[in-house]
Amino acid sequence: MKFAVIGHPIDHSLSPHMHHANFKSLNLDYGYEALNIPPAHFEHIRDIISDKALDGFNVTIPHKERIIEYLDEMSDEARAIGAVNTVKIENGKWIGYNTDGTGFVKGLQAKYGDLTDAHILILGAGGASKGIAYALSQVTDKPISVANRSMSRFKDWQLDIQSYSLQDVASIAHQFDIIINTTPVGMHQSQESVMSFEQLKPDVLVCDIIYIPFQTAFLKEAAEKECATYNGLDMFIYQGAESFKIWTGLDSDIMTMRNAVIKKLNPTTT
Ligand code: ATR
Repeated sequence: MKFAVIGHPIDHSLSPHMHHANFKSLNLDYGYEALNIPPAHFEHIRDIISDKALDGFNVTIPHKERIIEYLDEMSDEARAIGAVNTVKIENGKWIGYNTDGTGFVKGLQAKYGDLTDAHILILGAGGASKGIAYALSQVTDKPISVANRSMSRFKDWQLDIQSYSLQDVASIAHQFDIIINTTPVGMHQSQESVMSFEQLKPDVLVCDIIYIPFQTAFLKEAAEKECATYNGLDMFIYQGAESFKIWTGLDSDIMTMRNAVIKKLNPTTT
């Protein structure tokens, strides 16, 4: 079988490396390549992919929304999120899925355990936040809280969540078992803080969806306040594993995928 990831730019994508490690571990003679598709060429995407005779592909920045008009079908999850990161090609039919949110939640379950009773706050209300909130809504009984800089972002949310302004987070933050940053704020040192780490639950788990750098300034600050932290590496690994499952029906070798990515990233220098 043959797969790919489409994006622009795509040179630094770790997806081919991660998937090849998985194929090797599972003894599968499959291919996975990175295809650079500039936005100006996107209108030819069906022809470009057909020429490659792929069985499926991943979609990354900036094409996750644009791909939708070229699909034949979409999963409920992808439709609710309004973005697609995985396409399965079946007898020429293109079916869109979104595994980003599920990927984050699968990784979080492996790290945290059962999420049924967890009180969870998501910072940011963009595409990544929506995907994670959707996936969380499938596994937790508690209402999910989402805080954003601008309240207008919540207008197109179809999910039943509790929405807050980021400005009010300090007064509610003590309620949560898990806090997930999906904003780009606090990626690097010297940026402002997206929230205060005072008055959190002592056993709170503070998460970021970013893994380059391996420890964002946001997670560093949380660690300095003695909070447990969790970066976005597993989200990347598990979204890939979920895509692979959609394409092949098979489970992935998560450990091998993670080791392959970590070796490439060399976190001591990122
Ligand atoms: P993604 O797909 O990664 O979620 P996105 O859809 O562009 O990206 O969403 C970015 C999120 O980060 C939004 O919630 C955005 O807040 P707004 O809706 O108010 O724009 C948030 N964000 C970006 N820069 C921010 C900043 N400087 N402070 C607070 N939130 C910020």
